[in-house]
Amino acid sequence: MGAPKWVVAPLALLLLLQLAGASHDVRRSLEAEAASPSVPASILSPLLRTGYHFQPPMNWINDPNGPLYYKGWYHLFYQYNPKGAVWGNIIWAHSVSRDLINWIALDPAIKPSIPTDQFGVWSGSATILPNGTVAMLYTGIDRPGTNYQIQNIAFPKDPSDPLLREWVKPGYNPIAIPEAGMNATQFRDPTTAWHAGDGLWRMLVGGLKPGTLRGMAILYRSRDFKHWVRAKHPLHSALTGMWECPDFFPVREPGHPDGLDTSEFGPHYKYVLKNSLDLTRYDYYTVGTYNNRTERYVPDNPTGDVYQRLQYDYGNFYASKTFYDPAKNRRVLLGWANESDSVAHDNAKGWAGIHAIPRKIWLDPSGKQLLQWPVEELDQLRGKAVSVGDKVVMPGQHFEVTGLQSYQSDVEVSFEVPSLDKAEPFHPAYANDAQKLCGMKNADVKGGVGPFGLWVLASDNLAEKTAVFFRVFKDGHGKPLVLMCSDPTKSSLTAGLYKPTFAGFVDTDISSGKISLRSLIDRSVVESFGAGGRTCILSRVYPSMAIGKDAHLHVFNNGVTDIKVSKLTAWEMKKPMMNGA
Ligand code: FRU
Repeated sequence: MGAPKWVVAPLALLLLLQLAGASHDVRRSLEAEAASPSVPASILSPLLRTGYHFQPPMNWINDPNGPLYYKGWYHLFYQYNPKGAVWGNIIWAHSVSRDLINWIALDPAIKPSIPTDQFGVWSGSATILPNGTVAMLYTGIDRPGTNYQIQNIAFPKDPSDPLLREWVKPGYNPIAIPEAGMNATQFRDPTTAWHAGDGLWRMLVGGLKPGTLRGMAILYRSRDFKHWVRAKHPLHSALTGMWECPDFFPVREPGHPDGLDTSEFGPHYKYVLKNSLDLTRYDYYTVGTYNNRTERYVPDNPTGDVYQRLQYDYGNFYASKTFYDPAKNRRVLLGWANESDSVAHDNAKGWAGIHAIPRKIWLDPSGKQLLQWPVEELDQLRGKAVSVGDKVVMPGQHFEVTGLQSYQSDVEVSFEVPSLDKAEPFHPAYANDAQKLCGMKNADVKGGVGPFGLWVLASDNLAEKTAVFFRVFKDGHGKPLVLMCSDPTKSSLTAGLYKPTFAGFVDTDISSGKISLRSLIDRSVVESFGAGGRTCILSRVYPSMAIGKDAHLHVFNNGVTDIKVSKLTAWEMKKPMMNGA
């Protein structure tokens, strides 16, 4: 689950609560209840605070908000509690960067200050208007205690300031309010607006149809960016519960790595619609077609909203947002990863939450899914490197990659599987449940082809280790199926941690015998990219022994088939400028 602390509630309870429109509050209080009094010293180790993932010097963060590129600077705003390490008192903190890796903290950009946002400034998105002005759409809470949600707009006070330090909110706010028959407490997170070549602006707001489980991308239109009118029907919807933080953007043809501006409209472009599902705390997307006359988005896979859903990340990654980066002609994805320790731990640490490494995203050559890869600027942090080549790992064997401090590293490995003959049979009952399959067949459960992969953040005696691995199955027609897992069940001896096995299937042709893995290891986060970014999994782990120089890196093979490491390179990663911390 994306945000572990509130998954303790059974799904059924959450369903009921969401029908009652209450899950947003309940989630927060469940988090508070999870507190436990004892905090081991290892949890407080500065060596478990991430080194190159985005975070402020202290306190709670959640969603990335309004990312954009402006006059030579990348801007990242984010949901931030200036007063503590739990959700609350949310404002928009603001950081700027030249490269998406080194960050400078500025003063908070948007705080409650007008009647229509005086009880909260929640998530939103940036739109760059044709005259170059930035318009920031965001959700405001305008009355106490109710989470009644309305949409607002803010503009930079001085557009000539490349750092966009001050923001003003025009008197005509709000720009959209819940109308009669709408669910006023499930109406939030406006997207970047787009104009589909016909002079009309559109934006989406996440919503939930009252009394149902229908999550919606509610569509609004405007001629002047000031007066917004709700379209008769949502752009798209599905019976999956509240859609938080929708995102909608066009993509270039399959395999083309460049991005498109959100307003770039062409009848041949495919679109991606993402929603962050409050019920499961994962970010799901579909690839489909957008018709700007019928104002409908139709996923290519008709059941893609519900079955065998595509996720940006199958791990701890939520409330993400993309933006078009004109400087490098790419689309970049930013997402939030919460802690997996307890609230008591977070309070004692004084911080909670990080962001994933910004990822470039584009359409896979198959056209069926996206590919994701850490932005190239990350490579500047690569320091000392070690390489291993042409090494066979026999069944039940493992070897250590030595010669570097791997607790803050970047590891790229290409595996070769000589034969798929021994692949385990695949039971179709798991076609929709990679996570369950990985929970049963974790890294220690012997297989045919795999499990093979990396043990990262491993202690000397291997009592602690996080496994990131592949396991190959064969379906009834003999077709190979690859499962990618991140298994933190042995990651720490500390009690009270949330340690879910995360998993996704990998849509890759393993019959070539080749598959790659990249893992960004950063003290308490392991962010992995399978098969060139086809399947991604981020896990938060808190070793009690495998900390700093005591953390080791191994390659393992728990299958009955030999696995060859054709090439492995691991780099120590330097620490970038991180908001002055
Ligand atoms: C997602 C979210 C958004 C909301 C914000 C509040 O994590 O719940 O829907 O705007 O966080 O902080």
